[in-house]
Amino acid sequence: MELKENIDKVDPNKVPKRQLYTGCEIPAIGIGTFGSDKYGAEEISKAVYGAVCGGYRLIDCASVYQNEKEIGAVLKQLFEDQVVKREELFITGKVWNDKHGDGEVIESCRQSLADLGLDYFDLYLVHWPFPNYHAPGCDGDSRNPDSRPFFTEEYMAVWRQCETLVEEGLVRHIGMSNMTIPKLERVLPLCRIQPAAIEMELHPGFQQPELFAYVREHNIVPIGYCPLGSPSRPERDRTADDVADMEIPEIVEAAEAHHVHPAIICLKWAVQNGQIPIPFSVKPQQYMNNLRCVTEDPLTDEEMEKIRRADKNCRLVKGQVFLWPGAHSWEDLWDLDGNIKGWK
Ligand SMILES: NC(=O)c1ccc[n+]([C@@H]2O[C@H](COP(=O)([O-])OP(=O)(O)OC[C@H]3O[C@@H](n4cnc5c(N)ncnc54)[C@H](OP(=O)(O)O)[C@@H]3O)[C@@H](O)[C@H]2O)c1
Repeated sequence: MELKENIDKVDPNKVPKRQLYTGCEIPAIGIGTFGSDKYGAEEISKAVYGAVCGGYRLIDCASVYQNEKEIGAVLKQLFEDQVVKREELFITGKVWNDKHGDGEVIESCRQSLADLGLDYFDLYLVHWPFPNYHAPGCDGDSRNPDSRPFFTEEYMAVWRQCETLVEEGLVRHIGMSNMTIPKLERVLPLCRIQPAAIEMELHPGFQQPELFAYVREHNIVPIGYCPLGSPSRPERDRTADDVADMEIPEIVEAAEAHHVHPAIICLKWAVQNGQIPIPFSVKPQQYMNNLRCVTEDPLTDEEMEKIRRADKNCRLVKGQVFLWPGAHSWEDLWDLDGNIKGWK
């Protein structure tokens, strides 16, 4: 593939690292692989090839992104071309909501590993905390009549399968995604194997300070999705009130001061703040700038503080397509008043 030699690489040793509770290191930035219903599997896998050649070592995958086979083909190529060894990569996978049943988590993980051509995942996440799924590419009004609220016992049945994956050596660490403090309060005391990382929406306009602090206090590493405010996100995840992170005045001001694109400020902020951003891009210049920026020219304490105060509490991935019959609005998914919502 032509990207191997033609890009200005970043030395992976210069990319900051975080430590999981097991002592294992994870790069402080990775590349996302969700194409937002806009980019196809071939384009995304080509970007993964280029990104790894360029110095990325963390790849955020999920079965629902429908591109694991194509990414598997480029991983094979990367190993054959001796660009990287398997043990130098940190690969995340996720079980989709339609595979929460008895035995299905294990089956789905095995299928993802087969598609990716891997023996193990470094991290395997429960993508959403309920078995509610939507068809890929659906619109925002789409509802699945089989959708259900969160139940602790059902979640723990999924988690037990994740624990089995660790015990069987198919997965090195397990984690959660799209959780809230009330749900974590219920499930963490029941885990035999604690989550090593939690993936959550995190960008300057949506900093989730309480959940972020809670996760870190529990020795769990936060991975931040939509770190740039997901400007290419699907229509179902857009509403008129959404804030564009890259237009927030404090971000624009810092971008001007550092002579960089506002995207770069979002990523420097994320890494300096302590989460692991996983920006998506299929454009070599973008994804290489995204990686390089965390190795140089940090934001000042004053800039960090200004961005902290610029939080807009603006959730972008509201998840309304996962609502169950009887639920009122997307807020019901996120336990805003501290209570987990049931059937009514
Ligand atoms: N756990 C979960 O439930 C969950 C949910 C959502 C996402 N994720 C993960 O998080 C990853 C990232 O989220 P995301 O893809 O929604 O959003 P994002 O990374 O915030 O935004 C990606 C978009 O930003 C633009 N971009 C990237 N680099 C740029 C740069 N240097 N300058 C200017 N624009 C730039 C690109 O837009 P153009 O395409 O217009 O160039 C790209 O499509 C996903 O790919 C996925 O792996 C996980």
